[in-house]
Amino acid sequence: MTKNFIDITDVSATDLQAIIADAIGMKTARTGLSKGAIDPDPALSGIMLAMIFEKSSTRTRISFDMAIRQLGGSSMILSTADMQLGRGETVADTAKVLSRYVDGVMIRCNAHETLLELTSHADIPVINGLTDRSHPCQILADLMTLQEHKGDLSHLKLAWVGDGNNVASSFLHAAPKFGFSLSLGCPEEFAANQDDIDYAINAGADISLTTDPAAAVTGADVVIADTFVSMGDKDANSRLQVLSPFQVDTSLMANAATDAVFLHCLPAHRGEEVSAEVIDGSQSLVFDEAENRLHVQKAILKYCFDKL
Ligand code: CP
Ligand code: NVA
Repeated sequence: MTKNFIDITDVSATDLQAIIADAIGMKTARTGLSKGAIDPDPALSGIMLAMIFEKSSTRTRISFDMAIRQLGGSSMILSTADMQLGRGETVADTAKVLSRYVDGVMIRCNAHETLLELTSHADIPVINGLTDRSHPCQILADLMTLQEHKGDLSHLKLAWVGDGNNVASSFLHAAPKFGFSLSLGCPEEFAANQDDIDYAINAGADISLTTDPAAAVTGADVVIADTFVSMGDKDANSRLQVLSPFQVDTSLMANAATDAVFLHCLPAHRGEEVSAEVIDGSQSLVFDEAENRLHVQKAILKYCFDKL
């Protein structure tokens, strides 16, 4: 059966933990190699990955490209605007055609439904590179980073501050799988998706909800922020107005544990969701987090091609 990576909810806790462990192992095994060198034991030699982008990307695009190359495979980077998809060819026909040419697809698209439709008509693995609903590859990189810096994830308290967006949803999906507790500090207008909150709580996760950012981060081991205006959001002015009290700055961080760390998936907007002092300060792990996109996506690719 074709193995996809659509959402963290679809993957067992055992497989998710194996993906992170494999990513950490591969990262260590590459010590001293140049970034363009193929892994000593390349697992995906001969595999061609097509990457389709309906919206912008720096990290996802470059880290997936390097990931498949280091694994011995190849990639092609496509923009929907340059494909017949951008002129109205159906997602179903696109999926069937791609399945005849390439071995796997990573797609970043606006509507989550587009990803699901592509997946349902493709007979090759499909990977979610971000939709309006979720960003699962990002969250596994974040959790890998926390495991490296903090050890066992199940003892950690994570605090999400700001917009309850696609990235927040993937943290909600991950909470019951890894056993960390998650506190969401979001304004009512931009609360996290209720279905994802219900999923996490029903699956046994320790989730707390507040509209007070200081309450959300009190005692937290990890404080997480993301942009106030995600790709595709149309209401930038009202978002910036409502969300401005949710900026993560040094006074907000002072409520967290003394050894708390800061995460942000990037791109960041200093002076909006986070102060420069915090994101560029000693508690910030954002560049380890960005690097780990590469390592964890190599393990996700291996999972999809049954090479984990
Ligand atoms: N964090 C992340 O997905 O970055 P890009 O939008 O640059 O891919
Ligand atoms: N929430 C952001 C994440 C970007 C990587 C967005 O969807 O634009």
